[in-house]
Amino acid sequence: MQWQAIAVVLTSAVLSAGSGAGDDQPALRRAAEKSGILIGTAARPAQLSEAAYAATLAREFNMVEPEDALKWEVVHPERETFDFSQGDEIVDFAARHGMKVRGHTLVWHRQNPKWLTEGKFTSGELAEILEKHIKTVVAHYRGRIFAWDVVNEAFDELRPGSLRSTIWRDQPGIASSDELRAASNQVRSESEARSWQPAYAYIERCFRWAHQADPQALLFYNEAEAEVVNAKSDAIYAMVRDFRERGVPIDGVGFQMHIANLRADVASIAANIRRFTALGVQVHITEMDVALPVDAGGNARPEDLERQADLYRQIASACLAQRGCTAIQTWGFTDKYSWIGSHSKRTQGAALLLDRNYRSKPAYEALRSAFEWERR
Ligand code: XIL
Repeated sequence: MQWQAIAVVLTSAVLSAGSGAGDDQPALRRAAEKSGILIGTAARPAQLSEAAYAATLAREFNMVEPEDALKWEVVHPERETFDFSQGDEIVDFAARHGMKVRGHTLVWHRQNPKWLTEGKFTSGELAEILEKHIKTVVAHYRGRIFAWDVVNEAFDELRPGSLRSTIWRDQPGIASSDELRAASNQVRSESEARSWQPAYAYIERCFRWAHQADPQALLFYNEAEAEVVNAKSDAIYAMVRDFRERGVPIDGVGFQMHIANLRADVASIAANIRRFTALGVQVHITEMDVALPVDAGGNARPEDLERQADLYRQIASACLAQRGCTAIQTWGFTDKYSWIGSHSKRTQGAALLLDRNYRSKPAYEALRSAFEWERR
């Protein structure tokens, strides 16, 4: 008991001294709420027992997304087994702290369990498995997860504008012309169905299944390296426009925003956000971090931290400038826990808003001031 009390005192001392969120300065969350935008972060259930982690998460954010806890390998470890324990921890935490939850992700080519990837299923079996997965997971969180990344990273960076070859798309893929015909009253014969069928027909099926499981949830297509106007975002734009025209239930597009280039083209990011919101869908920035070169101790150069802050501010401003851009989410919040370290073999890091000791960095202040000054 005594130790707990001391820990609480120490933790709050660190937090109020270091996070920039003391009495005189409103926290990020409050600033975001005043400016009418959601501020979110990815989070890992294993860290929730760390007092500083949990307190910071609840104080600074009004939205949270399980970083890995809802991916197939965690939630669907065996064909007949669903395990929601990790996802539930995050969702329960969010409920206790009045935070919204984004779900990530129902269909992806990574972090899938072996029983699935090595199961040698036929197209029909795979469609059945995926439909059950989507409907079971979405229904479990009906009313508690307000937005889902239904499909993640379906477009290929190596073949601009084309879909990636995956188990879901063509290895063996889930699309069947019968079902497509039923989904579209524009076509009558099977040959017509085949010629009509766009390559992204499988994505359409996923959105329809998710919508059936929770008609209230906002359904997003989420993508990497499509934040600027480029061949990938052009292809996504064409797909989303087609979905909207044909009434396929899509509500938004997520741009991941993993940035490793301090000269990122912010004007192009702004133009891209503008053209997508003009289609009538929401835009969420879903996984923002700005990776910096770091030394062996994980430290970045002070001038890079300033340039990083500029990017956070400019990208937040680009989002705030469009009413349809409704959320900004970072991929974690403390440099203590960020995927960038392992992803870059420790050559990059320091990508988030708070340092390893939960002290605010220039990027934190930049984001907060963008929320304070650029009210909608
Ligand atoms: C990353 C997680 O942060 C890591 O913990 C995990 O080991 C690998 O995946 N794009 C996505 C995210 O959509 O799901 C990825 O998350 C980062 C890239």
